[in-house]
Amino acid sequence: MTIKRSVVLGVGSALPARVVTNEELAKKVDTSDEWIVQRTGIRQRYIAGEGETSSTLGLKAAEAALKDAGLTSADLDLIIVATTTPDLTFPSTATQIQARLGMTHGAAFDIQAVCSGFVYGVTIADKFLTSGSHNRILVIGVDTLSRIIDWNDRTTCVLFGDGAGAIVLEAQNQKGDVNTDRGVLTTHIRSDGRHGPKLCATGGPSTTGTSGVLTMEGKEVFKHAVGMITDVITDAYAATGFTSDDLDWFVPHQANKRIINSSADKLGIAPEKVVITVDRHGNTSAASIPLALATAYGEGRIKKGDLVMLEAMGGGFTWASALLRW
Ligand code: UT7
Repeated sequence: MTIKRSVVLGVGSALPARVVTNEELAKKVDTSDEWIVQRTGIRQRYIAGEGETSSTLGLKAAEAALKDAGLTSADLDLIIVATTTPDLTFPSTATQIQARLGMTHGAAFDIQAVCSGFVYGVTIADKFLTSGSHNRILVIGVDTLSRIIDWNDRTTCVLFGDGAGAIVLEAQNQKGDVNTDRGVLTTHIRSDGRHGPKLCATGGPSTTGTSGVLTMEGKEVFKHAVGMITDVITDAYAATGFTSDDLDWFVPHQANKRIINSSADKLGIAPEKVVITVDRHGNTSAASIPLALATAYGEGRIKKGDLVMLEAMGGGFTWASALLRW
């Protein structure tokens, strides 16, 4: 049996120029490097400066992913951008990036699932590719949450950073055997809007007419995170027959090292298989997973044929997993 699978052809990422250390933040709010490292694992984050926006960072990540794939925008038929912090309320960040890539064919649109946006984006791309309607899709995860942070709120301002990551997926014929096929093997997306107020912005275009600022009941989010993460990963195992022992890499959303370690521990995923970049990037929302993927791939850790589990959880609440063979 021949089936179509969405195979990763290239990956790329982009970070703002400016690094902000914990020590620098400790000069502005009542916090310390010790507290931030102990509670989150974060040591530094990148913050967008003047002229750096979601579309400029997303464009750079897109160009890097296309270069890695040996392609140009002429080879794409769709661009999906996951972001909660678009440059403008409209037009979409995706169409802005499409224009800057010089792409006048195909289509481009944004999706919004906060920190789960990239895995939602991969899920949507996979549906387009496996249905046969599209051949090559660029999926970008980008956020500049620093623009909606209350920089006087120590409970949130130490956690987040800016960045972008992108992958190019191509529909390729495979044998239909999850044990040997390359590409996306299964995806699982979930949400439960009852949790919305626990992690949200205080405004928006149709209410306050402003973007508002990010607020979070950190403890409440933490309490739900591990259970939700393990749920969608267990769903991926049930759909494929794999177990944690079969994984080569676990690439989770990078919000908090304690959440990542607790999830890996609960699922029996060996620590050496866990990709952690939250120490250097902070929580970059929709960018965190493709940034972590680009980092591990760039360091030569993720290789062709490796079984890779992606997982995310964030505002909404939304949560999602995608299992793929590189
Ligand atoms: O990407 C979307 C998903 N988001 C997440 O997954 C975030 C989930 N939540 C978390 O990661 C954690 O809950 C936090 C890192 C946000 C907080 O860690 P925590 O261990 O849950 O701390 P806490 O909120 O219970 O606060 C403990 C103490 C409090 O003081 P008191 O009430 O015990 O006196 C806070 O006021 O730490 C205080 N605190 C701080 N102290 C120094 C809160 N923020 C800071 C800070 N520096 N930046």
